[in-house]
Amino acid sequence: MSGVNNPEVTRGVVLQPPVTLETEFAWYENISKRGNLIFAILLHQKDSAGIVTGYRYIGHTGLHDLTWPGGYCESGSLIIDPTCFGKGYGTEAKLLLLYEAFRVRGFRKVCSRVKAFNGNSWGHLLACGFKQVGRHKSHHFDNGNFVDSISLEIFREDWEPIWANYQKTKSLPRLTDEQHAQLEKETSIF
Ligand SMILES: CC(C)(COP(=O)(O)OP(=O)(O)OC[C@H]1O[C@@H](n2cnc3c(N)ncnc32)[C@H](O)[C@@H]1OP(=O)(O)O)[C@@H](O)C(=O)NCCC(=O)NCCS
Repeated sequence: MSGVNNPEVTRGVVLQPPVTLETEFAWYENISKRGNLIFAILLHQKDSAGIVTGYRYIGHTGLHDLTWPGGYCESGSLIIDPTCFGKGYGTEAKLLLLYEAFRVRGFRKVCSRVKAFNGNSWGHLLACGFKQVGRHKSHHFDNGNFVDSISLEIFREDWEPIWANYQKTKSLPRLTDEQHAQLEKETSIF
C-alpha cells in the first residue's frame, strides 16, 4: 500500500494516489476477471556467503487487454521501491514477460504506453527492443501541465534476437549511446 501511495512511484503511471485498500481489492478483482496475466517481480535475498535465503517483492509486471485473433496485448510494470529504479530490474522483468507473451502464450505483438517524462519506463522498453510508433500530444495531466503519451510496440521477431543474446551473454540489453542521448533530450524538458 505504501508503494502505490508514493508519488515518486506513481508519477509515471495512470493510477494516482490515494489508493485505498478497497481500491486495491477492486483492482485485483478486475484484473482477475478480465484474464490479465500479472507476475510479481522478486529480488533474491542473499546471506553474507551469497547463498539465496529468500525473495523480496519489489513490484509486478503484466500483460493486459489480451486480444484475439489480433494476437496482441498491452504491457505494464510497477516497481514500488524507488531504491530499485534504474538497476536493470525492470528490463529483466520485461524480457521475461515477453518470453511469456511470445513463447508461452503465442502473441505476435506487445504494446506499451509511457508518459514522455518517464525515462526509466521509456528506456527499459527501448532496451528490450520496443519501437516508438506514436505520440499523443498533451495527453496526461501531470503536476499542472499536460504531457505527451508515447506509444511503443514490439513484435516477436524483434524480441527473439535480444532474448538469444541475453541467454548467450547473461548480460541485460542496454540502450545504445544514440538511444540514451535521444531519451535524455526528450526527458530533459520536464
Ligand atoms: C518503469 C520501470 C518498471 C523501469 O524499470 P527500471 O528497473 O527502473 O529500469 P531499467 O534500469 O531496467 O532501465 C531503464 C533504462 O532507461 C535509462 N534511462 C532512464 N532515464 C533516462 C533518461 N532520462 N535519459 C536517458 N536514459 C534514461 C536507464 O539508464 C536505463 O538504461 P541503461 O540500463 O541502458 O542505462 C520502473 O522504473 C518503475 O516501476 N517505475 C515506477 C512506475 C512506472 O513508471 N511504471 C511504468 C508505467 S508505463
